[in-house]
Amino acid sequence: MKIDPALVDIIKAQKAQELSQRNFLTLKHFTPTEIHALLDLSHVTRMEVRRGLPVKFHSGKKIALLFQKDSTRTRCAFEVAARDLGMDVTYIGPSGSQMGKKESIKDTARVLGRYYDGIQFRGHRHEDVEILAQYAGVPVWNGLTDLYHPTQVMADFMTIRDRFGTLKDIRMAYVGDARNNVANSLLIGAAKMGMNFTIVAPKELWPDPELVAYCQEEAALNDAQLHFTDNMQEGTLNQEVIYTDVWVSMGEPDEVWRDRIALLHPYQVTKKIMRKCSKRAIFLHCLPAFHGLDTEVGRDIAEKFGATFPAVAQGELEVTNEVFESDWSKVFDQAENRLHTIRAIMLATLKKSENYGWE
Ligand code: CP
Ligand code: NVA
Repeated sequence: MKIDPALVDIIKAQKAQELSQRNFLTLKHFTPTEIHALLDLSHVTRMEVRRGLPVKFHSGKKIALLFQKDSTRTRCAFEVAARDLGMDVTYIGPSGSQMGKKESIKDTARVLGRYYDGIQFRGHRHEDVEILAQYAGVPVWNGLTDLYHPTQVMADFMTIRDRFGTLKDIRMAYVGDARNNVANSLLIGAAKMGMNFTIVAPKELWPDPELVAYCQEEAALNDAQLHFTDNMQEGTLNQEVIYTDVWVSMGEPDEVWRDRIALLHPYQVTKKIMRKCSKRAIFLHCLPAFHGLDTEVGRDIAEKFGATFPAVAQGELEVTNEVFESDWSKVFDQAENRLHTIRAIMLATLKKSENYGWE
C-alpha cells in the first residue's frame, strides 16, 4: 500500500504516536496539547480520505465494538473508520453476548484482549469502561457512558475549529440537561481548551459540584472561563455556539419525562434565541434530536404532554424544527466529524504497526 509520505511526516511531526497504547475514557486524561494533536490528525486524515488516498496504517488489526445501548453514529463511525485504517471489526450489541449477565466485565476484558487490538465500549456505568481498560491490555475507547461522551466532544471541537479556526476564547453555551454525559464532557473539554463556556440550565440540572471544582481548576490553568446560569435569555445572548442535547438520556426511565419537560421547556432552542447570538453563531447537537413528529418518541411526547406544555405539542423538544433545519445548524457536519475524529483517535492510540514507516 502506498501511503502519502506527506501524511506520514505530518503524523510524526504532531507526535500523535505518543498516544500509542493509551485508553480514551475521558478528556480528563488528556492535555490540551494532546487534544490539539488529535484534532490536527483528524483534519489531516479527513483531507487524505476525501482525496481518496489510503490511510491503512493499522492493516490486519482487529477491533471489537461493545454496545450495551443503541447507536447510529458511534457504531457506524467506528466501523467505517476501522475499515479506512485497514482493520476488521466485530460488533457486539446490547444482547447476544455473555457480558454483564453470565460473565463479568473483568473476565470479558481478559478474553477479548487476547483476540483484539482495541475495544470500544458504550454502556451504563462509567466504572465498567474503566474495568475493561484495566484488564483488556489493549486500548479501550469510551463510546459513551452515563458519565462521559468524550469521542463526541472531539467531533464537536473539530466542527467549531472548522467554523472559527480556533477553540480559544470561543463563546459556547450548552443548554438543557447539564448533568448528562455530553454536558460533562463538554465542560471538561471547554476548561482544557481555554473556551468561554456557559452552562444554561435550571439549577436542579447543573453538573456535579465535584466535576465543576475539577473543571474550575483546569480552567484556571488553561485561561478558560466557565459560567453557570439558569437564565436562558442572558446565558445564550451573543454566544458563538449554542449546543443542546436530549432532555432524557438513554438508560433513564420513561417516568422522568414529565418532570424533565416541566423543567426544560423554557430552555428549548428557538429562532428567537439564535437571532440574539453572534452573527457568526452556529447551532450544534450531538444527535439524535427531537425536532418534530417524525419519531416514535416525538409523537408520544407530543400526545402525552402537548396539552400541558404547548412548546412540545409538535414533537419539538430541545430544539425547534426551524432551528434544526436552518443555516445556523451544523449538526450534520458535526455528525460527519464523528468519523474523522474517531479515525484519528484509533490511529493514534493503537499500537504502532512496524510496516508502514512510522519509526
Ligand atoms: N451522538 C451519538 O453518540 O449518536 P449515536 O447514539 O447514534 O451513536
Ligand atoms: N445524552 C445522550 C447522548 C446521546 C448521544 C444520551 O446519553 O442518550
